[in-house]
Amino acid sequence: MASVPSLASSVEQRVADALASALPEAGAADPLLRRSDRADFQANGILALAKKAKANPRELATTVVEGIPTGDLIREIEVSGPGFLNITITDRAIVETLAARAADDRLGVPLSPSAGTTVIDYAQPNVAKEMHVGHLRSAVIGAAMVEILEFTGETVVRRHHIGDWGTQFGMLIQYLLEHPHELDHKSEEEVSGEEAMSNLNRLYKASRALFDSDEEFKTRARARVVDLQAGEPETLALWQRFVDESKIYFYSVFNKLDMDIQDPDVVGESGYNDMLVETCELLEQSGVAVRSNGALCVFFDEYKGPDGNPTPLIVRKSDGGFGYAATDLSAIRDRVGNLKADTLIYVVDARQSLHFKMVFETARRAGWLNDEVKAVQLAFGTVLGKDGKPFKTREGETVRLVDLLDEAIDRAATVVREKAQDLSEAEIGERAVQVGIGAVKYADLSTSAARDYKFDLDQMVSLTGDTSVYLQYAYARIQSILRKAGEAKPAAHAEVALAPSERALGLHLDQFGELVAEAAAEYAPHKLAAYLYQLASFYTTFYSECPVLKAETPEQVENRLFLCGLTARTLSKGMSLLGIRTPEKL
Ligand code: ARG
Repeated sequence: MASVPSLASSVEQRVADALASALPEAGAADPLLRRSDRADFQANGILALAKKAKANPRELATTVVEGIPTGDLIREIEVSGPGFLNITITDRAIVETLAARAADDRLGVPLSPSAGTTVIDYAQPNVAKEMHVGHLRSAVIGAAMVEILEFTGETVVRRHHIGDWGTQFGMLIQYLLEHPHELDHKSEEEVSGEEAMSNLNRLYKASRALFDSDEEFKTRARARVVDLQAGEPETLALWQRFVDESKIYFYSVFNKLDMDIQDPDVVGESGYNDMLVETCELLEQSGVAVRSNGALCVFFDEYKGPDGNPTPLIVRKSDGGFGYAATDLSAIRDRVGNLKADTLIYVVDARQSLHFKMVFETARRAGWLNDEVKAVQLAFGTVLGKDGKPFKTREGETVRLVDLLDEAIDRAATVVREKAQDLSEAEIGERAVQVGIGAVKYADLSTSAARDYKFDLDQMVSLTGDTSVYLQYAYARIQSILRKAGEAKPAAHAEVALAPSERALGLHLDQFGELVAEAAAEYAPHKLAAYLYQLASFYTTFYSECPVLKAETPEQVENRLFLCGLTARTLSKGMSLLGIRTPEKL
């Protein structure tokens, strides 16, 4: 085999390099290389270049063509239209670049040259509250970003900023204190996530009812908030029970979601309590925050309420209480100062955008964020029902996340059972979870995070179209071919001529590394989802046009098996970055 091309460069990059060296005066100008129907690639960049140089584009294009050697990489290059270039790659170059990728555990995906430390804030449900679809989005998008970034070599610190502090605990703790057996069970193993949540729900409702109807209880509940903030041991111990009970529930949901959440990464709002006073002092001393009607506030010219008056960020309320903002500002100090993050990502609902803009701006003014540190909210849109309105039950209540997941698994079981030929009931059950949960995650990840999307289970578990099931089937089909291959083993043969659909599949496979880098740099898991869907589509076309096990020569069989194998590995790796399983059999 000829020299193995550098894994970092795809065929497309090498074509771009060849174009650049044929026209050095173009400098860093983008050759605007695109995949094309007429040839493998079309380069459109000459037009802009000619315009700038006041030259004739076709003449300029001709000069480039003359300056490019054809042979190993480029089979044919020709001028077309007003000055485009049509470029066809040699079959050999395609197979060789893929062989190099296949020989690499990382499938040729380069490590980022500028890897640093990212703290990612995601999957942050609230204590004593049911999880809903908003928490699903944060968890799913966040987990995908963690995987994608880590795969590019980034050091990632996970932070689950759970809502575990606030005045509502006064009421809950006081109620528990007065009804001490309400949360009794012998050990954590004995209570399921569902039971834990239903206990909490019951306590929440009962204490709320009392709070609203009994003035004396209300007074005791308020006093309890003060005890909690003062760290009074008995109060704190009861608070801890609420947190622990909630965690049983959270972990059960994360487990159902096939997500690995580790206890040390759960650093909720309460984790920053020790920093709050100092955060406020620093802001006040530096003049970043000022007193206004007794509250400590930060003002911005650009953020005004409907009445035209400025909307401040309230760091400390006039009653002395610290809010959501003080906690987030303290968390920034911790993440940058102690965890040494150079990037902070917050996977949070777009409806909290104003909060984060103000928090980031405040942290910049205070010097806690500087030019070396980037802070971004990876803001996500709302999950809508089929009617296009925010997702609610028929009674107008928020839909419980667990109910949704169970329904997805149920639907998936129907789909799997219909298709299953040689699967046992136990296997069907296991696959149903992988298909159902995969479907929910994929539907979320395949639209750009910022957009709202409709939660439509029928569409999500459909075997055709842009769904995870379609991708999982493509993978399982390939595995079945590889199993049937018997003696024939996948092997790259650079001298075998490729059919058009093999070339298309091959060139797409070759783009995996660049795609992962792009998804990482832009925090855009949906780009990876789109890439994988295209990959499965190219594979489907290849499979319908090119017999694999019955190909003409043994070399062709092996080469096609090689393409199958690399497609399967790429699909599986890509799906695992999105947090989705690829069962071997479906
Ligand atoms: N617990 C919040 C919620 O359910 C999300 C927390 C987002 N993260 C943060 N650092 N503020 O809306």
